[in-house]
Amino acid sequence: MNLKALERFRCVGCGGLLQVQPSASAKNNGNVAEGQLICSSCARVFPIVRSMPRFVEGEDYAYSWGYQWNLFDKLQLDSAAGNNLSHERFFATTKWPEKLEGQVVLEAGCGMGRFTQVALETGAELYSFDLSSSVEASYRNNGASERVHIFQASIYEIPLKKESFDRIFCMGVLQYCPDVRSAFMSLVPFLKPGGEIVVDCYEKHKGLIPPLKYWVRPMLTWMGPKGVHKFLSLAVPPAFYFKKALYKIPLIGKPIGNLIPIGPISHAPKLIFTDKELIRVKINSALGWYSPACDNPQTKETIRQWFSEAGLVDVYIGNGFNGINARGKKP
Ligand SMILES: C[S@@+](CC[C@H](N)C(=O)[O-])C[C@H]1O[C@@H](n2cnc3c(N)ncnc32)[C@H](O)[C@@H]1O
Ligand SMILES: [Zn+2]
Repeated sequence: MNLKALERFRCVGCGGLLQVQPSASAKNNGNVAEGQLICSSCARVFPIVRSMPRFVEGEDYAYSWGYQWNLFDKLQLDSAAGNNLSHERFFATTKWPEKLEGQVVLEAGCGMGRFTQVALETGAELYSFDLSSSVEASYRNNGASERVHIFQASIYEIPLKKESFDRIFCMGVLQYCPDVRSAFMSLVPFLKPGGEIVVDCYEKHKGLIPPLKYWVRPMLTWMGPKGVHKFLSLAVPPAFYFKKALYKIPLIGKPIGNLIPIGPISHAPKLIFTDKELIRVKINSALGWYSPACDNPQTKETIRQWFSEAGLVDVYIGNGFNGINARGKKP
């Protein structure tokens, strides 16, 4: 971690200031690879491991994401995938300017850091955290930047100074939290007055019959991420080729094929994948549907209500890449 970040880190227990105590492997150009942070008020200790402060003891319910993002750490990273999907989604969701030099931004739930990479390209200083060990993957992808401070923490106990961020974003995260309302509410105190928050969230289906994914989840989730991954590695390739063959049958082929819950079999014309690449994309997506412990989609009305309760103004609630997009400002 860069010592510069100390100005914004706070004790999760008492909100006290933190001091760094480097162990034998000490500071290098203001960076601490291994050591600890100690609260100057209550003496609570938070280890710094592999250059990241750790404010949680384990991954809690988010272990499936640690497994997934360390395995698929480059698949959705624009710079590695050679596309600009994350860039497009980030700016379509946030509507932020492409240049944010001089601003301090907070990212909640970074995963392997695909949006971290995009946010860093704006020139902003970025604090970015995740509950799971996916922070290791994000550090591999983004840790070289002098402007990023990646740490392991929970959205329910954010170890930062209140009202110290110009902008906050939380994309692809809220629906995976057990208490979505509290997760959202936890973010708001960290915005400066005039600061802007952007979140997205899966939208709850309106019909009587839940989407296929919610029928399949109870059959697979109990296997744990490793088990689900093993199952998908065996099941997805034949399912993919079968679905592709079905799609060639006129009229009835497509509706029958759509019962195979692995998502679309082509992303053309936007992205051109080989079958092998597409199968990997399908396995990653399906792992994200079937292995997380929680999946709590919301309605636009509920999210609007939360923005209002949080006292946010200039609120926009609409639909986007991930279901619901929501933006608002602290007065
Ligand atoms: C679908 S991934 C999205 C990651 C990244 N934002 C992206 O879109 O690629 C959801 C992430 O939310 C994280 N997450 C879930 N609960 C969390 C919590 N309480 N605090 C911080 N992160 C959490 C998971 O560990 C996981 O990395
Ligand atoms: Zn303390």
